[in-house]
Amino acid sequence: MTPKEAQKKAAAEAALAMVPRGCWLGVGTGSTTGYFIQGLKRGWVKGAVPSSVTTEKALRRKGIRVLPLSQARKVTLYVDGADEADGRLRLIKGGGGALTREKILATAAKKFICIADEAKWVKQLGKFPVPVEIVPFARSQVARQLARMGGRPVWRKGFLTDNGGEILDVRGLRIRDPRAMEKKIEEIPGVISAGIFARRRADLLLLGTPRGVRRIKVG
Ligand code: 5RP
Repeated sequence: MTPKEAQKKAAAEAALAMVPRGCWLGVGTGSTTGYFIQGLKRGWVKGAVPSSVTTEKALRRKGIRVLPLSQARKVTLYVDGADEADGRLRLIKGGGGALTREKILATAAKKFICIADEAKWVKQLGKFPVPVEIVPFARSQVARQLARMGGRPVWRKGFLTDNGGEILDVRGLRIRDPRAMEKKIEEIPGVISAGIFARRRADLLLLGTPRGVRRIKVG
């Protein structure tokens, strides 16, 4: 296992230790979350709400009870990875294309724990291209608006999200105020959601590092 994978696994294991038994759990998407799912045991949670079809399949393989969000009474805890995280636990997500359901689950959850390797830790968000899920009909129109905001959108060709949306990966945005940028992108007609998680940021970041798992909280 590479040092990076070991950091992801260590962060996932630290999150597993924080899952209250019998809770309703939201589960994210990606390789770090994959380590988390590997460690989940049948019967630990009342039910799990997956953020993607891929995660749903992985949970079912582990014998975990899976429910759609509409049937879960609540989401006590949401655990997910990130493509970038800053010091105030604002994130860029959606490298795997599951950003919309991830944002819905993070918002629904009482607590959001983000798990990541050290490479995801940044001073300022924006080196990783911001994924933006869009209605296919609006692609060129949204791309023009994003370009007007200083971004360089690239269509993730051939990729459709679980919601039937498309993704534009936007490089070059200067994200001085992540909250304002998230809002501005999500106000463009045709945008389903932006991969900036600032209005609903993480409550706790478990960051795998070569020296162990750092626990980072805001305020
Ligand atoms: C998927 C995501 C993932 O959490 C993000 O891409 C991180 O993935 P990984 O754990 O594989 O590095 O937002 O939409």
